[in-house]
Amino acid sequence: MGLPVRSFDAVIVGAGGAGLRAALQLSEAGLKVAVLSKVFPTRSHTVAAQGGISAALGNSQEDNWLWHMYDTVKGSDWLGDQDAIEYMCRMAPKVVIELEHFGMPFDRLDNGKIYQRPFGGHTQEFGARPVQRACAAADRTGHAMLHTLYQRNVRARTQFFVEWMALDLVRDADGDVVGVVALEMETGECMILQARATLLATGGAGRIFASSTNAFINTGDGLGMCARAGIPLEDMEFWQFHPTGVAGAGVLITEGVRGEGGYLLNSNGERFMERYAPTVKDLASRDVVSRAMAVEIYEGRGCGPNKDHVLLKLDHLGPEVINHRLPGIREIAIRFGGVDPIKDPIPVVPTCHYMMGGIPTNISGQVVAPHGTSPDEVVPGLWAMGECACVSVHGANRLGTNSLLDLVVFGKAAGDHAIEWLKANPVQKPLPANAADLSLSRLARLDGQKDGESVTDVGRDMRNIIQRHAGVFRTGEVLTEGVSKIREVAERVKRTAIKDTSKVFNTARVEALELDNLIEVAMSTLITAHTRTESRGAHARDDFPDRDDANWMKHSLYYSEDQRVEFKPVRLKPLTVDSIPPKARVY
Ligand code: FUM
Repeated sequence: MGLPVRSFDAVIVGAGGAGLRAALQLSEAGLKVAVLSKVFPTRSHTVAAQGGISAALGNSQEDNWLWHMYDTVKGSDWLGDQDAIEYMCRMAPKVVIELEHFGMPFDRLDNGKIYQRPFGGHTQEFGARPVQRACAAADRTGHAMLHTLYQRNVRARTQFFVEWMALDLVRDADGDVVGVVALEMETGECMILQARATLLATGGAGRIFASSTNAFINTGDGLGMCARAGIPLEDMEFWQFHPTGVAGAGVLITEGVRGEGGYLLNSNGERFMERYAPTVKDLASRDVVSRAMAVEIYEGRGCGPNKDHVLLKLDHLGPEVINHRLPGIREIAIRFGGVDPIKDPIPVVPTCHYMMGGIPTNISGQVVAPHGTSPDEVVPGLWAMGECACVSVHGANRLGTNSLLDLVVFGKAAGDHAIEWLKANPVQKPLPANAADLSLSRLARLDGQKDGESVTDVGRDMRNIIQRHAGVFRTGEVLTEGVSKIREVAERVKRTAIKDTSKVFNTARVEALELDNLIEVAMSTLITAHTRTESRGAHARDDFPDRDDANWMKHSLYYSEDQRVEFKPVRLKPLTVDSIPPKARVY
């Protein structure tokens, strides 16, 4: 195999909230932990999360984890697994208080308790009225969380490999994962990081879309690694469009703006959400608001010379609230939208924000790869958590602020489970002789095809196809065309070449390797979206406008090797409470 090898108890790929939370658990247990990250840890995409982390603390209004659970199941359009949702909502107060004790600088109420704001789909008494559940650090909650977790990891002596990209999983003849092959981005050198526990926390893959709130690093690396290793991807048809991306730029404007009292207007100056969600209006769940905006724009009530966006009005909140609670938003609006929201509304459009699907896992974060008659069979030695995983707590649509919660709840759960696994499996399995073959052949392919197609051109075509064929509204015809176009692009990806190796820090090579991952995500998205002939949550098909519980209460599983789609049932039974039965989803 010829590559240098370093051995650890645990290797974690990704240094966002989920990776750092798991790393902290493992390092504090005295284990030897390596965390790989393409960027400096505090630049991971968690830093961009704005509005808050949900927990039924009840600091300003009465709240209850059961109401949180109900909102999450309803938000998921009954595709979320209710055992995992119960676990997450019950754990929420505990993990948020734990973050507070780690030193996370939450905003405070006058009585010293954590400040909480309303958010889309968060309600009291099973949908009766909005509730303040999002625990916030101004509009920089992810930033505060990431810095807190990084500092705790430095104290716990977690070892960081900064600007390292994981290329492929190493699986032995038994199918166990025994580490990863990784590339040092600056030098282009490869190494095998051998580990008894490998944890994937690589975040989302929003960069398959042309317009996204996601960072450029969000290229689905963990999903690509799993797809190439024969592990299926779950529920990839479900992508969340955040209602308020800055028009033309895609940068996120937090839902916290609407939580603080901002609202959307069409070109007639009408507060149109009153028509679509009479009870909670602008605080309906994201898929509902994004579709309402798309309809307003499609029916000619969009704003601006091209009538291609709507307006988010918040000047009535006054400079004090805006500067105190939403300072980052003001800066983003000025820089990217060209407006000062203290005076003028912000032009906004729905923008790709979050991947509900991902690598299938159980509540302990173990990766599940159904095999024959064993639907719950796990991949020994492999865990996944955070946005790259599908546990599934978000189902067909995620509630705002449940993402930060997912990171810490399941990052901690995976860390705890891996600790127990490491105790029970104290001996490192040997690396297989072909450990690095797949990665080395990918690198050889890129370096050997000097006259192949440019990565930039192929990547741009992929993003445009996804934007056009997997948007807010979908039809069978648009999806069929999309599947055939993306298959052509996938063939072109195999013929890409590194044209300009003079670029600093091997960025050309890294972009090419990222495209291998993005195309797995793009293919799985279009093929599963085409397969699901119903509308549920964020997957809205004009040709199948209704939710079809009789036929589609099931998760999709996409297998890359032959592009087939299989299914597994939604887990409707919670851990301890009664199931929340499906019903019409109105806000
Ligand atoms: O709107 C926001 O602040 C985003 C939060 C989230 O995606 O959870």
